[in-house]
Amino acid sequence: TPDLPLAHQRVLVTAGGTREALDPVRYISNRSSGKMGYAVAQAAREMGADVTLISATRNLPVPTGVKVVYVQSAADLLAQVSTEFPTTDLLVMAAAVSDYRPVQSATEKIKKPADHADLTLQLTETPDILKRLAPQKTHQYVIGFAAETQHLMTNAQRKLTSKKLDLLVANDVSKPGVGFNGDTNQVTLLQPNQAPIKTALLSKIEIARTILTTAVAAGAVQA
Ligand code: C5P
Repeated sequence: TPDLPLAHQRVLVTAGGTREALDPVRYISNRSSGKMGYAVAQAAREMGADVTLISATRNLPVPTGVKVVYVQSAADLLAQVSTEFPTTDLLVMAAAVSDYRPVQSATEKIKKPADHADLTLQLTETPDILKRLAPQKTHQYVIGFAAETQHLMTNAQRKLTSKKLDLLVANDVSKPGVGFNGDTNQVTLLQPNQAPIKTALLSKIEIARTILTTAVAAGAVQA
């Protein structure tokens, strides 16, 4: 429908917590459920977009009309997003990307040593996907997320700038009903040179619609 606000727009959404393998049966991950990203994908589709969801979560129902690609690690996510980015109009990075991965992933299951000695895991940083994409931006409108447990606004403002985002969705995950596993969220939307917009505690689909409507109002869709 040409009247829908995201008609003819290619929207790429990432969702869920990446998994960094230790061995064939174990991984390091985080508490992200993927629900916020799935809600953004659903809202974008309802607003008329052509939506691809890159998901590190496999247990959520895929919204009707949304194409899904499943990934595991931060490296997989980087590869997939990099492939899709040039033909994307609006990128929403809702995935909780692991900041570190094991230096080595064992090819066989790691066994307990006979002497029950402590085990030390050596971790190395994963690539920052948004920072990698920033220099490749042409017309894309890019939205990032920041989940913080302290100094929310200072950290969020820094991320908006350092990741060269058009919009950053900040949430205080230490507050009840906010962020990771629930069905509600309360966020603050930060944009360059704009006063922050604080939402009420809303369902994740309502938060998703607010994010996308704010992006459209800010000029995310080019004429
Ligand atoms: O720096 P931090 O992980 O808090 O930033 C969160 C935002 O950056 C999210 O939008 C997340 O998807 C993105 N991110 C990323 N690559 C990483 C880590 C986070 O693109 N390695």
